[in-house]
Amino acid sequence: MPSFATSPGTRDIIAPDAARWRSFQQVFADVVEAAGFAHIIPPMFEDLGVFLRVGETTEIVTKEMYDFEDKGGRRVALRPEQTASVCRAFVEHRPVTPWKVWYAGPNFRYEKPQQGRYRQFDQVGVEVLGVDDPQLDAEVIALAVEFYRRLGLRGVQLSLNSLGDSGDRDRYAAVLLAHFSTHRDALSAESRATLERNPLRVLDSKRPEDAALIAAAPRMADQLSEAAASHFVAVQSALLAGGVGFVVNDRLVRGLDYYRRTTFEFVSTSLVAAHTAIGGGGRYDGLVAELGGPDTPGIGFALGLDRTLLACDAEGVFGAPAARVEVFVVDATGGSEAGAVCTELRRAGIGTDRAYDDRSMKAQMKSADRAGARLAIIIGDDERSAKTAIIRTMEGGSQQTVQRDALVTHVRQALGR
Ligand code: HAM
Repeated sequence: MPSFATSPGTRDIIAPDAARWRSFQQVFADVVEAAGFAHIIPPMFEDLGVFLRVGETTEIVTKEMYDFEDKGGRRVALRPEQTASVCRAFVEHRPVTPWKVWYAGPNFRYEKPQQGRYRQFDQVGVEVLGVDDPQLDAEVIALAVEFYRRLGLRGVQLSLNSLGDSGDRDRYAAVLLAHFSTHRDALSAESRATLERNPLRVLDSKRPEDAALIAAAPRMADQLSEAAASHFVAVQSALLAGGVGFVVNDRLVRGLDYYRRTTFEFVSTSLVAAHTAIGGGGRYDGLVAELGGPDTPGIGFALGLDRTLLACDAEGVFGAPAARVEVFVVDATGGSEAGAVCTELRRAGIGTDRAYDDRSMKAQMKSADRAGARLAIIIGDDERSAKTAIIRTMEGGSQQTVQRDALVTHVRQALGR
């Protein structure tokens, strides 16, 4: 028989991590719903054309897309991110603006798998459509910062940049192309190839041979239109007023083409691996129009769940939530009692588990321990005939015998509720 394992770049998320994932998403929902964001669940695949709008020179489109023709002859793709889907949904449903939505779920990119980089990875994120105000940029960024605070993360740095309006960005790309082309031979082979496709991305190169040319490259700040420059100043003032620390990094270009004006990235200083970017976002003021909708500004961010949890591990914060099983029923009558006791306790909202197959008392106590239960309810033949049960604390081992028909009350008391 063949045996199977997960595909490269994918993982099974099992206990205790699966519960941790869920509470990560819950904490995020709590933070953003309290700020007026509504949940959106876009489909995991859609028309390839939606994702091509992310930018035909970005790697997630040119190299990493999981696209295929479905049985109806449609060209579809698994989503590599969710911003484009949200904009498509905006165009499709025409909701009232400002439209503030949040999402959580998996995305797919055919990347080279390694620690912190997967082919299926999860994000939580928000998008706001229909607002130009720089106050919103600061508010959106502050929400991410607040979420990191709730997780307990301390080592998160915010880098901020402005990529200007589309004219500014095009002008800057031309200036960069001229700069790098003059010194083309000094660039790494990879950067020479990148230069043809997207001169801005050369700034992302970490190759030592590119460092000097990048340091000497023209600055985006010098190409910003007056409107984009004053927007950027206003975002910075609002962040400072809100007590959100940041560094301006004018080499921050981000991996997606749709960004305009404000762009930002969160880097974990606790991660030493190559992938320290735990979240990022920015404005994408032209994207809705590119998807066939009215000219609509947009801003948002996505935080990588997998990587953020690695940062939590590194900082020793946001561990897995405690086990939900509080009580374990140890049935030494051959199994006739456990079912009814479980039903009764579970119905009373008390997390309860049991053993099967008429295991020995010792084996059942071991299972109780493994389940993380605080109490064991022990019922043997004597207790069954006397209509009683023994409540035993797992830690300390103190015991009391109680009436079977008052079990729920006694268990609640023993749990301190
Ligand atoms: P992104 O920078 O491509 O932006 O992804 C955001 C975050 O997702 C990254 O910072 C990283 O933590 C995580 N991530 C990305 N790729 C992987 C991977 N292969 N494995 C593990 N984690 C990964 C976006 O996706 C934009 N949609 C963000 C946005 C929202 N911009 C505006 N609105």
